[in-house]
Amino acid sequence: MKQEDEQKKDGNLYVGIDLGTSRSSISAGNSTREWIESYVGWPRDFIAQQVVGKPVLFGAEALQNRLSLDLCRPLERGIIKAGIEKSDEAVKEIIKHLVGLAKPGADQKINAVVGVPADTLKVNKLAIRAAVSEYVHSLMVVSEPFAVAYGMNLLNNALVIDIGAGTTDFCIMHGTIPSEDDQKTILTAGDYIDEQLFSYLSEKYPNSRFNRNMVRQFKERFSFVRDVPEDVQVELPVDGKPVMHDIKNEIRRACESIMPALVETTIEMIARIDPEFQVKIKNNIVLAGGGSLIRGISDYLQDALREYGTCTVTCVSDPLFAGSDGALKLAQDMPEKYWEQL
Ligand SMILES: Nc1ncnc2c1ncn2[C@@H]1O[C@H](COP(=O)(O)OP(=O)(O)OP(=O)(O)O)[C@@H](O)[C@H]1O
Ligand SMILES: [Mg+2]
Repeated sequence: MKQEDEQKKDGNLYVGIDLGTSRSSISAGNSTREWIESYVGWPRDFIAQQVVGKPVLFGAEALQNRLSLDLCRPLERGIIKAGIEKSDEAVKEIIKHLVGLAKPGADQKINAVVGVPADTLKVNKLAIRAAVSEYVHSLMVVSEPFAVAYGMNLLNNALVIDIGAGTTDFCIMHGTIPSEDDQKTILTAGDYIDEQLFSYLSEKYPNSRFNRNMVRQFKERFSFVRDVPEDVQVELPVDGKPVMHDIKNEIRRACESIMPALVETTIEMIARIDPEFQVKIKNNIVLAGGGSLIRGISDYLQDALREYGTCTVTCVSDPLFAGSDGALKLAQDMPEKYWEQL
């Protein structure tokens, strides 16, 4: 309540933005919450322009029209792809679009907290400042898992693991703003599962037709580790005819392919902590990001860590907005001196 009052007083719009490889979301102080897939596309030529009828397209709409567009996914592996043609421009467009979706008042100033993957904070700060300076008046860039942790009030003795598309980000919270040592990023995340699934399916069904986008959709629909009671079957064309394919085993293997690195890094992060606090942190491990929707993943991790003592692993309730909601909360709570004026 206190924050809302302050906001009314200074008249600014506070926003939290989660800039993700695959999805980006915004949560704003005026209660708007929106997300888009992090794709930007520009019509390739004069005909394409007439077909799509817009100068620039975003997210799902850009993907649907991809044959007419120069398509850019600017944040692959969690970093703005420096030097790659149009990726800076694409990040700018995403920010502009997200801020627009939050419907700020005509002359309202925007104060934004932007979450990015932990390891790339330094590289990204400059690039993000350049990308947002036209649309945002005050800025703070934070790591994605820190934003999640702040939003959930996990400020002390917790480990947040954000399993995204390009990266899995780890962040230990122990009562202060996390330092570099408290954070780690690894590259086994959703995109990696997609690659594995694509190759397992190509091997098992060499004559069937499917693409990476379809494979990702199969994963998002059926993902699990260990076991689920039901069959997992999808329809794919073989020589032009639709045929049912059993993909259960491949889904499981692909989803489980990220687990060894996940377990190992979790153990490594906990081992860095003063032993007195390790038990507390082990009992407060929270999974976030789209990867936390894999069925059975929290139990899997919890059991894998059991040989190191008791532990508790849970998942955030709203992975799509946990990052941007936390960033918004930070924006609303943050003292003046932390803001960077643009
Ligand atoms: N039900 C699901 N099961 C498994 N994976 C899922 C599910 N839903 C979404 N995902 C995957 O989660 C990933 C996207 O998660 P999220 O939106 O947290 O990532 P991001 O923030 O865009 O990426 P990053 O944090 O790496 O920049 C994608 O790989 C997506 O396929
Ligand atoms: Mg993310």
